[in-house]
Amino acid sequence: MNPTAIDAARKQVNEKGFLDIELDPTLDLFAEIEKLKKEKNAILLAHYYQEPDIQDVADYIGDSLGLAQQAEKTQADMIVFAGVHFMAETAKILNPSKKVVIPDLKAGCSLSDSCPPALFKKFKDQHPDHVVVSYINCSAGIKALSDVIVTSSNARVIVESFPKDQKIIFAPDKNLGAYINKVTGRDMLLWNGACMVHEIFSLEKITKLKTRHPNAKVIAHPECEEPILRLADYIGSTTGLLKYTQTDSSQEYIVATETGILHQMIKASPTKTFIPAPPENNCACNDCPHMKRNTLEKIYLCMKYETPDIIMDEELRLAARKPIERMLEISKQAGL
Ligand code: 13P
Ligand code: SF4
Repeated sequence: MNPTAIDAARKQVNEKGFLDIELDPTLDLFAEIEKLKKEKNAILLAHYYQEPDIQDVADYIGDSLGLAQQAEKTQADMIVFAGVHFMAETAKILNPSKKVVIPDLKAGCSLSDSCPPALFKKFKDQHPDHVVVSYINCSAGIKALSDVIVTSSNARVIVESFPKDQKIIFAPDKNLGAYINKVTGRDMLLWNGACMVHEIFSLEKITKLKTRHPNAKVIAHPECEEPILRLADYIGSTTGLLKYTQTDSSQEYIVATETGILHQMIKASPTKTFIPAPPENNCACNDCPHMKRNTLEKIYLCMKYETPDIIMDEELRLAARKPIERMLEISKQAGL
């Protein structure tokens, strides 16, 4: 597409953050997306929390670390990121010569929003003897203020790479931070942020569910609160949880994370039973409202019109890149 046409398309992104163009309902979106991938030499990266149709059309499905690694090494001209904003932004930080398109610019993250850079800077300045370890679920502004980035699959290894007496600030997820403190015996200073999806699980309901399914194992993401994690038989990133269900011999699992991951779990182990952990209310609260903003239609449109795309200030990009590179390097050394 020529630059003038892309500029014109950018102006059509509505205030809600996506291209609202009516599509012919008979269009075979799976086939059209495949066609656009070839035409534009595009790769479609999707997080496990995306709806099943999006996972089925993706070239790679993964957790935050896997997605960052794929984004860094891809030779494609266009990265289509079916995830949330901080993930697409990370892809752009790592691979700036590629066009990174996102189906919906407003697909954010409550955890990332809980840590505004100006406030965090003040907090950091009050603790000049601390290094800053930040969870990847944060904005480029927070990454630029950090010494190293972590994901749920490498947080333990990375925190342990610092000397025992090193003072550390961990941001923005207090639940992941508390979990890492527990398993490493550290006393990191925690920013008070949390994920709206992982804070919703009901301890009482899960306990009752376990009574009805005595052989079911509870598997949980470390963004969950401590009482849920205490109950868990296994704690890990989305990829970790999926792998566990593939290698473990149990037949039933209560899954305490966003429901999107169940699609791959069922695909990989069709004879096993997966029960989403019940939330406090009778709502669909363990669906991430941000992840679920993405649809096949929006993916098709962002690929066709090459917008919305991630545009970044170069100085900010370079500052945010350093701690991500450090994360990738330590992960590589650790074989992750
Ligand atoms: P991971 O897939 O890296 O475990 O992260 C989960 C999550 O909440 C992403 O927003
Ligand atoms: Fe953010 Fe939680 Fe949604 Fe992940 S599941 S994108 S941490 S709000």
